Amino acid sequence: MTDIILLGPPGAGKGTQAQRLVARRGMVQLSTGDMLREARTSGTAMGRTVAAVMDRGDLVTDEIVIGLIEENLQSGKGGGFIFDGFPRTLAQADALGALLERSGRRLDAVIEMQVDDAALVKRIAGRFTCGDCGEVYHDDTRPTARPGICDKCGSANLQRRADDNAESLKIRLMEYYKKTAPLIGYYYAKGVLHPVDGLAAVDDVAKSIADVLDRPRAT
Ligand code: AP5
Repeated sequence: MTDIILLGPPGAGKGTQAQRLVARRGMVQLSTGDMLREARTSGTAMGRTVAAVMDRGDLVTDEIVIGLIEENLQSGKGGGFIFDGFPRTLAQADALGALLERSGRRLDAVIEMQVDDAALVKRIAGRFTCGDCGEVYHDDTRPTARPGICDKCGSANLQRRADDNAESLKIRLMEYYKKTAPLIGYYYAKGVLHPVDGLAAVDDVAKSIADVLDRPRAT
């Protein structure tokens, strides 16, 4: 059983690579961003608070996201988990460590996806996703084969995210460098950090990640 974290700034390609790992290795993607986007459509007071925080580009409270992850871990689904966009703070990282230990699981690898800011801005500006199956596209680098129709599920419900604009992205990047980048040192010290070149083509990034996951691990 392999549990991994995909760590990287907004637009680094975490969701894109997580979808490949799900398709190719049967892993289970736990994306706090997706869970929060679902929560914001619930019509509850919590959903409205979450929506305002996300649209600004700020981080949602540790308490909310840790609760979401805890619920999903307890569901006992699947083999290996891919933590996509979680943890994002040192408090979340400590909480994840405790949750995994309590469930008798362990973190095998933290994949640090390295991408420079200029590329992130271009990726976020061109991104759109399928509102039905979640497939991720890009205007220039990964357009749909038929305009307006998802290649994977045939839906015409293609969407752009409310936080994919220049102003929110600036705040999301600042939040990343201030609160999430310290996790690079945190996981390096635990001996599980694996940097990969996130600027490479999608297939090449996938290959670098596969190389890490296929490496024999100490038991
Ligand atoms: P979240 O949904 O997690 O967003 P994010 O971290 O900002 O990451 P993105 O989804 O924007 O990017 P990605 O790395 O998945 O890139 P993608 O594969 O789509 O979080 C959103 C918000 O929720 C946060 O701002 C916060 O408010 C809240 N939140 C979530 N988790 C939280 C937590 N733990 N704590 C507190 N708050 C939390 O790729 C981007 C584009 O690039 C796509 O168009 C894709 O086609 C393209 N692309 C991907 N790879 C490549 C490549 N190799 N070459 C060329 N193009 C590529």
